[in-house]
Amino acid sequence: MHREEMDEFVEQVNAQSDLLQVVQSYVPLKRKGNRYWGCCPFHGEKTPSFSVVPDKGFFYCFGCHAGGNVFKFLSLIENISYFEAIKLQAEKLGIPMPQRQKSPQELAREREIADLRKVNEMARDFFHNCLTMTRLGEPGKAYFEGRAISAETIEEFKLGFAPNAWDKLSTAFLKRGVKQEYLLSGGLAAERKNGEGVYDRFRNRVMIPIADERGRVVGFGGRVLDDSTPKYLNTPETVIFNKRRILFGLDRAHRAIKNAGFAIVVEGYMDAISVFSAGVKNVVASLGTAFTPEHGKLLLRYAPAIYFCYDSDEAGQKATIRALSIVQGTGADVKVIVVPDGKDPDEYIRKHGAPAFQELVKKALPLVEYRLQYVLKHFAYDTLEGKVKALHAMLPVLSGIREPALLGEYVKRLAQALLLDEGIVRDELRRFSRQPLPLPEAEAPRAPIRQVSRRTDTALQRAGRIAIRLAWQDSGILQHLAAMVPLESIGDKAQREIFLYLQDLAAQGQKTNDIEVADKLSEEAVAELSRAMVEDLGVLSETDAYTKAVGVLRKAYLNLCYIRHSQRAMELSQAGDTGYIEELNKAQQIKTEMEELQLE
Ligand code: CTP
Ligand code: MN
Repeated sequence: MHREEMDEFVEQVNAQSDLLQVVQSYVPLKRKGNRYWGCCPFHGEKTPSFSVVPDKGFFYCFGCHAGGNVFKFLSLIENISYFEAIKLQAEKLGIPMPQRQKSPQELAREREIADLRKVNEMARDFFHNCLTMTRLGEPGKAYFEGRAISAETIEEFKLGFAPNAWDKLSTAFLKRGVKQEYLLSGGLAAERKNGEGVYDRFRNRVMIPIADERGRVVGFGGRVLDDSTPKYLNTPETVIFNKRRILFGLDRAHRAIKNAGFAIVVEGYMDAISVFSAGVKNVVASLGTAFTPEHGKLLLRYAPAIYFCYDSDEAGQKATIRALSIVQGTGADVKVIVVPDGKDPDEYIRKHGAPAFQELVKKALPLVEYRLQYVLKHFAYDTLEGKVKALHAMLPVLSGIREPALLGEYVKRLAQALLLDEGIVRDELRRFSRQPLPLPEAEAPRAPIRQVSRRTDTALQRAGRIAIRLAWQDSGILQHLAAMVPLESIGDKAQREIFLYLQDLAAQGQKTNDIEVADKLSEEAVAELSRAMVEDLGVLSETDAYTKAVGVLRKAYLNLCYIRHSQRAMELSQAGDTGYIEELNKAQQIKTEMEELQLE
């Protein structure tokens, strides 16, 4: 595909995109004049500081400083790259992407993926029909009844049964034209050790279909009906089944996760099914494998918080601690739902009912609290050595606390519990915080959660933004500004970057183009540009605001020159160089001009 073709494609997607409509499909907005306000989806807030100005094509959050155009918005909210955001929007608008010629290998792989999905879907229906419509499914039915799993739940999750026979599925599928090769590579059958042909991998098990987040079946978990082992037999890794990336139930849960603002992660299929059926629909299971950074990343696309609800036995607690360390440092809000007395969520719900479980969710412990309770329970801190170990086990979570008051509270509690001096705890914490973070950057899930930060904002910075806004729309303005204030001298780093970029564009005779900015400018500069575009100018018209802004910028520039010349004059006079007089004269002239500016 050619570069021009691509540019044209992006241009077309941009032209047909409606920023307001896109944002509104995620965030409720209220109109005020030519701008719209809502609560920022990128950080938690109760009063709106997130603003969209459709005429300018920009959004900006005055709280967390997220800002940009429609693609930037999509990339932040869906937690995808800028380019993926363009593709996503193109897909929504039905604009075909210019295609590169694919290699025969790529085509073959795509074909295999599509075929395997198809075969898995057929298998799901096969198992489900076997359970619900045939006599072979009766043991499965009895099993589900014994676990109080309703017919609705069986329908909802398309649960099934693999008959107690060697090749029911294989024979049926081969007859229907499925290639044997796909039965093998999809993990549904295995080659017979002696003799010809294949046999079914799943036999005499209740079958739980596993889908990717878009609801496409990618594999199965099969559970035995009794206590024999292995309890669960799963689809092996295939080209479409990657356990590190798949979360069971995400296809059903993601909307609920978004609405609730958090995801609940459980260990088992049956836990997820029970919790979901208990009306708590924002639940997923991590397929028995450890929770991975990929899992974290996947969930953080939908909500900024993750609640872990693992078995409360020793193994479950260890798994919880491991999972917590995986998501720590992502900015995710992490909590732990504690299930009393050694139970898993499924058993708890069966014994105490859905409302009792919903109460447990409400009482979820913040990460630090859980960690503190865990450490105090698991470490023998009656010796000095034990105290140090316990203290060190707490440091990673403590160092993640951003609110000083909360941190102070936990430092105090830890010191009291360990009978240590608070100062020692603080010293250790300080020492620990200076060490690099334990998780390598590449491993840490990319999180859409942003910190609210207060940036200093001076009259000078406001003036800079007004100038940016007008210069963006009219290169004549940029020329005027550059004549008044050399653009390299602009003090604010992000603003300077924008001005110099605009100057470059103008020099090349190119127009400003908001699709390109995310590519060409730093994150801070994109945010500052967005802010400039959406900021309210009060009662002033754009041109009046600009006139005032140029005055402010010019004054700052003159002030800079004045200081420079005065300093130079001082240096020269100290060195006995009469050139200082000229410098002083220049400084004086500048001062006069500054005073005149003041009078206006
Ligand atoms: N698991 C697995 N293979 C096993 C055992 C467990 O893949 N041999 C995975 C399954 O995804 C299972 C999860 O680990 O759901 C949790 O295992 P466990 O706690 O032993 O099972 P439960 O979910 O409690 O299963 P059940 O309630 O059906 O006994
Ligand atoms: Mn269980």
